[in-house]
Amino acid sequence: MCWCLCFFILITGVYTTFQGHSHISNNLKFSIVSRRNSTGHWIAQVELKHGAESKEAGPWEVDVDQTTTKYGDFETIVIAAEIAAPPRGIATKLLEPPQDYKHLPSQGFYKFHRDQSTWLVARLKCEEEGTHLAIINSPREALAVTSLWVREPKLFNDWRDDWAFIGFHDLYDEGQYVTVFNQSLQDAGYATWFKGEPDGEMSQNCGLININSQLGTIFCSQKLPFICEYND
Ligand SMILES: *[C@@H]1O[C@H](CO)[C@@H](O)[C@H](O)[C@H]1NC(C)=O
Ligand SMILES: *[C@@H]1O[C@H](CO)[C@@H](O)[C@H](O)[C@H]1NC(C)=O
Repeated sequence: MCWCLCFFILITGVYTTFQGHSHISNNLKFSIVSRRNSTGHWIAQVELKHGAESKEAGPWEVDVDQTTTKYGDFETIVIAAEIAAPPRGIATKLLEPPQDYKHLPSQGFYKFHRDQSTWLVARLKCEEEGTHLAIINSPREALAVTSLWVREPKLFNDWRDDWAFIGFHDLYDEGQYVTVFNQSLQDAGYATWFKGEPDGEMSQNCGLININSQLGTIFCSQKLPFICEYND
């Protein structure tokens, strides 16, 4: 039997909002030490060190998944750790929508970002523009928002062409989906899910919408296009 132990570490856009300015934390040190003990068990120790100014110490979410794949006699163990620190506040609101946002009558202003990002980075990019990841408040808005990408040329030629991150997650409380403003989807006004979603997978914590206006969840570390929204 041949063993291979691999570690894939994703630090998904760890960021914080501090005194109104969003920034990526770059004072992170992540390390893994692995060894086999005398009875043959693999022991892996994971350590994360981060510096945080007192006001930016939000709740940290750590997901560790382990999967074992067998190819004949060869076995691969993948331990994937995902660390996310949701921001504490929301960036200062702009008085005017950014210029490249598209106005959808009686809904708001939106931008479909084609630069694929993890959910947390997408959230940060919207905040940097003075907006937020889109929140769907009605079936009409869901339809309007998906009209944003019908004319987009395909980026991937697979399922990812039909999905984009929007502003909801269950990072605080497994299975309780809330918007980036902490409202439940029901209170926000739209909770129409794609068939089989949400599928109760513990590590699929971030929200997305498809081209047919249905909601889904996926790993926050997946890189996808995303939709930002500005409300006046
Ligand atoms: C090796 O690690 C396993 C798993 O943690 C533990 O059960 C076992 O007792 C360890 N063996 C020794 C000799 O420490
Ligand atoms: C949202 O709710 C969670 C859990 O109740 C809380 O920890 C967090 O600070 C809240 N965030 C905002 C932006 O209100």
